[in-house]
Amino acid sequence: MGSQVLVPFRGCEDSHRHLKIMGDLGQIVPMKYHPRDVDSIKAVMAKSNVVINLIGREYETRNYSFEEVNHHMAEQLATIAKEHGGILRFIQVSCLGASLSSESRMLRTKAAGEQSILKEFPEATIMRPSTMIGTEDRILNRWAQFAKNWGFLPLVGGGSTKIQPVYVIDVAAAIVNSLKDDGTSMGKIYELGGPEIYTVHELAELMYETIREWPRYVNVPLPVARAIASPREMLLNKVPFPLPTPSVFNLDQINAFSVDNLVSEDALTFEDLSIMPQRLKGYPVEYLMSYRKGGPTFGSTVSEKMRSSEM
Ligand SMILES: NC(=O)c1ccc[n+]([C@@H]2O[C@H](COP(=O)([O-])OP(=O)(O)OC[C@H]3O[C@@H](n4cnc5c(N)ncnc54)[C@H](OP(=O)(O)O)[C@@H]3O)[C@@H](O)[C@H]2O)c1
Repeated sequence: MGSQVLVPFRGCEDSHRHLKIMGDLGQIVPMKYHPRDVDSIKAVMAKSNVVINLIGREYETRNYSFEEVNHHMAEQLATIAKEHGGILRFIQVSCLGASLSSESRMLRTKAAGEQSILKEFPEATIMRPSTMIGTEDRILNRWAQFAKNWGFLPLVGGGSTKIQPVYVIDVAAAIVNSLKDDGTSMGKIYELGGPEIYTVHELAELMYETIREWPRYVNVPLPVARAIASPREMLLNKVPFPLPTPSVFNLDQINAFSVDNLVSEDALTFEDLSIMPQRLKGYPVEYLMSYRKGGPTFGSTVSEKMRSSEM
């Protein structure tokens, strides 16, 4: 859009370097901040007229709870944006399925974050993307890594839960289109799901197909998956050292994936933002080729193998 983009970051100076080349010289401006230092947030917002809150995390750490990251930080941003007086648009990136009654604590805190934002900044727009797929996604990449390391993929509850994964580029386009149209503000909530509904198992098949490995699964019943994932949650604030980041056995995600998570019938969607979301098969999952044994062009997909054995 030609806008200057201020990118607040914490941690390492190098982590955001790749973003700088996504704009002209001086267009992408990383600014160091600390989420618990209000003045540093105000400094980032000082010269802005739009705030897009992308802060969120699907697991807790000993430093940050779900409540702080997904609810209180969002609320704080909305309060500061309101006080600022010149913030015209506030976009909150939430999650599909955010609900105060969700099985998942993360989704409950995302819902609480939405409510607080709309209280502080009623003109805000809420985007609720479904599971996002793209180069740095944390679902197909994680599954592919697990499958390569262990030779199988655990399927919680047989992988029958229905989801509506969405290409990350479409979500970004939805945010941009929303900024171009003030009619999308005033507390509107958009549910952003892809054009196809997959079961978790079907999505895993797409991953296996793309990495050209024969699909191997171990079915893990829901209570067993919860039991495997629970020790991290129980130990989190009880041991004096950080615990490893959860991979496929993340208790909260297991809970989130225990029920279908689809765009509701009466929701505002991509269509209301003039976007036709892309199917995942093909370009959106091509980054998975890097997991192919022998390199990106090596071997053939399962369907290619089946076709050639039929001939
Ligand atoms: N990925 C999905 O499938 C998906 C689906 C639906 C909704 N969402 C939502 O989309 C948004 C963007 O997510 P993403 O997938 O792009 O993940 P991401 O790359 O990990 O981005 C999350 C951002 O939140 C920041 N963050 C997390 N914990 C923080 C903390 N304690 N203090 C300050 N900053 C913190 C991270 O900063 P650091 O880099 O410094 O950690 C990072 O910039 C999030 O709100 C997420 O909940 C994601």
